[in-house]
This record gives sequence, C-alpha cells and structure tokens, in this order.
Amino acid sequence: MTLGVLKVTLERSAGLEQAATVFEVPAYENQTVLDVVSWVQQNADPTLSYRFACRVGMCGSCAMMVNGVPRWTCRTHISKVLDGDAVTIGPLRNLPVIKDLVVDMDPFFDKWVAAEGVHHGALTRDDPIEAIDEQSDARVEANAGIECINCSVCYAACDTVTSNADYLGPAALQRAWTLLNDTKDDGRAAILDAVSDKGGCHNCHSMGSCTVYCPNDLDPMSAIAGLKRETAKSFFKMGR
Ligand code: SF4
Ligand code: SF4
Ligand code: FES
Repeated sequence: MTLGVLKVTLERSAGLEQAATVFEVPAYENQTVLDVVSWVQQNADPTLSYRFACRVGMCGSCAMMVNGVPRWTCRTHISKVLDGDAVTIGPLRNLPVIKDLVVDMDPFFDKWVAAEGVHHGALTRDDPIEAIDEQSDARVEANAGIECINCSVCYAACDTVTSNADYLGPAALQRAWTLLNDTKDDGRAAILDAVSDKGGCHNCHSMGSCTVYCPNDLDPMSAIAGLKRETAKSFFKMGR
C-alpha cells in the first residue's frame, strides 16, 4: 500500500556537468533510501547508475550523500531523512564521480595501502599458532576498528580530505591503528613512517565528523588520536 508521493531530487553527472533531476516516487512503509533509488532506476530511468550489493549493511558499497549528509543507503529509512516530502540524493563527496551516483573508490583504497593498512605477516604456516589475549589493551584497541566495512562515509564527511588531497583520511588511518595494535602484525616501523608523512595523522583537526557519521558506530577520530600519540613517542624515542 502506498502512503503518498515523495519528491526525489537526484544530483547526477551529465557529461562534465552536475545536473539535478526530480522524480516522483511512491512512498511506502519501511522504505529505505536505496529502495527509493532502485524504484527510480526500475520505473523511471533505466540509465541511472548506482551501486549496492548486500542490502544489509555489510558490503559498504551503497553509500551516497542524502540531503548533504553521507549515509549507508540500504540501512537508512527514508522517513528518517525526509525534509517534508522531499529528499536530495547525490554521489559521495570527496571521490571522483564515474557516473550518476557511482564514485571511483580507487583513491580511498589506494590510501589504505599508502597508510600501510595491509597486514605485515612475520610468521609462516609452519610456525605454531600463538594465543591472543582478548582482554589486553592492544587487542581491545585492534578489535574496535576491525568492523570497518570500507563504506567511505567517514571519508566523505571529512573536511580535511576535501581541502588536502594528500590526506590519508579517517578509514585508512583507523586501519593503520588497528594493525599497530595487532600483535600478529609486524609492520610497526613502516606504519609509523607512513602515518607520519605529509598526508598523515597530524593533519587531522579532531572535529570528529568521521566518528559522528560512521554507520557502524566506529571511532576513527580516537584511532587517529592514538596514532598521534604513538608517532610523537616514536619521534622523541620514548618507545611504548
Ligand atoms: S576528526 Fe580528523 S579524520 Fe575525522 S573528520 Fe575530522 S579531520 Fe577528518
Ligand atoms: S570507519 Fe565507519 S564510516 Fe569509515 S569506512 Fe569504516 S565503516 Fe565506513
Ligand atoms: S548494500 Fe551493502 S552496505 Fe548497503
């Protein structure tokens, strides 16, 4: 049963220009922002490009700007974000637009690699399996960031990313912090070097938009504060 009509403005690319198109979409109970975009693609404009996969908040592929705020669209109910009967949906901020609502995620993932956010193994499959103390401070810190789904919502929310193309951004830095605290990772020196570089953690202004908007309730700002402490200690050779 429909509950009226929504006025949906899609901000999308038209060649090199950004253009807005307005659609009238039937409203119904428990409708998500992603449902609205899918309705437009299936019923009004089959050329519309957008990205999603899991629909349950796990794959991180469906993030878009919704009324100017970055959100995971498959877990955002339209009723929570409507302005009257209207909503404006656009591609994520801070990433190049490929087409319509699809952004190029390469710069986001390239920065994970630049932050040494890839596991640095020290053991081989022939070494004995080591027990991990789940209660240790380091493991608690590592566990905090491990649920990141790479949705790039925090990256889109970060004004420092907007003003500094070299800045590694909240997700990559949080990943670096996770590995720094993971006793199975052997990349401490490389990580500290990478996050001290010109695009590193000391660019962060600690205003916290990343933490406010992370849909998984993660806290990249605190992870970055941890990196700032560790890089400063390393600089002054205080060790841990
Ligand atoms: S706290 Fe740092 S990383 Fe997070 S949004 Fe602000 S500047 Fe970006
Ligand atoms: S930290 Fe949160 S907002 Fe950022 S990419 Fe990971 S899950 Fe998404
Ligand atoms: S479609 Fe997978 S997180 Fe939204």
